Amino acid sequence: MSEAPPLFDTAFAEGFTQLLRWRRDVRHFDRRPVAEDELHALLACACSAPSVGNAQPWRFVRLRTPAIRDTLACHVDAQNARAAEHYAGQARYDHYVSLKLHGLREAPELLAVFCNEQPLAGHGLGIATMPETLRYSCVLAVHTLWLAARVRGIGIGWVSILEPKVVQAMLNVPAHWSLIALLCIGYPAQDSDTPELEQHGWQSRESLNDRLFER
Ligand SMILES: Cc1cc2nc3c(=O)[nH]c(=O)nc-3n(C[C@H](O)[C@H](O)[C@H](O)COP(=O)(O)O)c2cc1C
Repeated sequence: MSEAPPLFDTAFAEGFTQLLRWRRDVRHFDRRPVAEDELHALLACACSAPSVGNAQPWRFVRLRTPAIRDTLACHVDAQNARAAEHYAGQARYDHYVSLKLHGLREAPELLAVFCNEQPLAGHGLGIATMPETLRYSCVLAVHTLWLAARVRGIGIGWVSILEPKVVQAMLNVPAHWSLIALLCIGYPAQDSDTPELEQHGWQSRESLNDRLFER
């Protein structure tokens, strides 16, 4: 028997809306470490995400070796330089190279999130025609982690300027694990209700009206 469900009252709903508003992608960290029990609490929250067939395909790899961190940061910097070349000759080039797009060298914790593309759990339910739902499930785990972290004042930065296969090889994970996210985790240098890319004039949040359609 389950216990009686909690009442999510108006105050909670308002608090939740504020949580969404104040969740940020964080690239500037102070060096304060994240306590082990806090990190485990976050990961436990992430595991409460929904998943196709209840397959729970997420696999978390904590990056604890300084040499791995260094190699990874150099790889991302190199990929970022290549990405910048796409803007060569455009007004956006200078703007792009001025952006800080990862905190891999400063964040106290680095976490790689992989998807096990062949999970035994779930017994194949829901993935016959849409195997990509395994990866969608992992993204939901990342978002759950992101919100759980923000509740505790901990920031997360998602880094995608990388070659997934290179990172997969670097971390020596099984071939059927695909990289979903590389996350920087730690206490943010400052809080804001405005995305950093918006603060720096790169891209603002746009209106729901431009993204809602009816048929
Ligand atoms: C799938 C994904 C990949 C991202 N990759 C990067 C990245 O490589 N570098 C970066 O600075 N931000 C990255 N971000 C963060 C976005 O830039 C950020 O979510 C967006 O600008 C909105 O800001 P906010 O998350 O603070 O609301 C990524 C976000 C997502 C969801």
